[in-house]
Amino acid sequence: MSNADLDNTARTILIENDQGGYTVPTKGLYPYQWNWDSVFVALGFATFDQDRAWREIEMLFEGQWRDGMVPHILFRKDDPSYFPGPKVWGTDGGPIPSSGHSQPPVAATVIRDLVDTDRSGKALERAGALFPQLMNWHRWYLAYRDPDNLGVLAIIHPWESGRDNLPDWDDALRAVEVKDIEPYERKDTSHVDPAMRPHKEDYDRYLSIMAACRSVGWDPAEVARTCPFFVADPGVTFIFLRASRDLLVLADKLGKEAEADEIRGWIAHMEKGAKNLWNGDLHAHVAFDRRTGKHTDGISSMSFLAPYAGLADAKTLTSLQGHFDRIAAKVRYTMPSYDPDHPSFEPLRYWRGPVWAMVNYMIARGFAEAGDAIRAEKLRSDTAQLVETSGFAEYFSPETAAGAGGGTFSWTAAIWLTWASPTHVKQAA
Ligand code: GLC
Repeated sequence: MSNADLDNTARTILIENDQGGYTVPTKGLYPYQWNWDSVFVALGFATFDQDRAWREIEMLFEGQWRDGMVPHILFRKDDPSYFPGPKVWGTDGGPIPSSGHSQPPVAATVIRDLVDTDRSGKALERAGALFPQLMNWHRWYLAYRDPDNLGVLAIIHPWESGRDNLPDWDDALRAVEVKDIEPYERKDTSHVDPAMRPHKEDYDRYLSIMAACRSVGWDPAEVARTCPFFVADPGVTFIFLRASRDLLVLADKLGKEAEADEIRGWIAHMEKGAKNLWNGDLHAHVAFDRRTGKHTDGISSMSFLAPYAGLADAKTLTSLQGHFDRIAAKVRYTMPSYDPDHPSFEPLRYWRGPVWAMVNYMIARGFAEAGDAIRAEKLRSDTAQLVETSGFAEYFSPETAAGAGGGTFSWTAAIWLTWASPTHVKQAA
């Protein structure tokens, strides 16, 4: 398929996955609105329909909870083909039935991008309408995912990280007692190959964490205090820090001085706090279990987001470049979701090795901003080759480029349109 054909296919995927203002990640496997999927999807829509891009994010924020949380899934209509659905979550925090936790907060960054690339003259007004909601979501993250004020954000469920099955969660997940779960039937394994999905022991624990949170009524302070899983995540922390910098730019543009001061305080605090994630043996930022204080021993693709978060001091950048080159020499396509030199690496199992296009996009952006155009371009051209080889799959093998998971995937299409496509590169030049 030519690049122009791929561009057309990508647009068609977004249009076909559109449910009338919000987009499903892919039909079948994921039939609802997912938080960070929608935000990346907005970038794709913005390449041909800016109004529709805004609508995607506005509809996501329609589901914001009273306490400020923006849920990871909005169940706008019940769909029995998905498990666990709204009844299992048992939440009551917002106007739309939803899951009970959040997902990585990329929204402020993408909203700033929509403002910067606006052709309609209306973007700042639309950003202004969402600004208080963004502030409340960021405040919620700081209050309830960093209750001890360490300057790093934790997740209360592997799904909150957006990287469900990452080896980083293994030890903390194994420590979760399996209890209070009803007999259940998974649906994911009837849509895609079970060999690529999480194991049943993991699933039992995913549901046990939900049961524990349900038992405290999803009260965010109680969840932070008692949740059996509470792990500080470099992914969410770096995405939040980056998003806070973009929120600050929006605050300045909108003349919100008090909020701008507040955000500057968060940024300064988190720049220091990020040191808590540093693993001195590995020379990289990694997850650490907030209940046991133990760091993980592996590098994930999100360890490479430090420059994206604005943490590009010489020590961090040099060690990341070293890891990048070591990994690039080992696998054909960067950036595998987990270090291929780690024993937990599996090239095709969910988040234990495969490449995701939107992660590559964020890493590349950080590297480019830190002045490393060469590695940024390698990430882009690897992503383009993966799509050229296997289409708009959910994720790809870093070894063979095989596509896996759901097909005709919205965020892969969106990232192609906004960044990876050679057509886009030509236009941007
Ligand atoms: C999986 C991914 C998560 C994503 C969702 C929908 O759960 O791990 O990041 O948001 O699928 O695509």
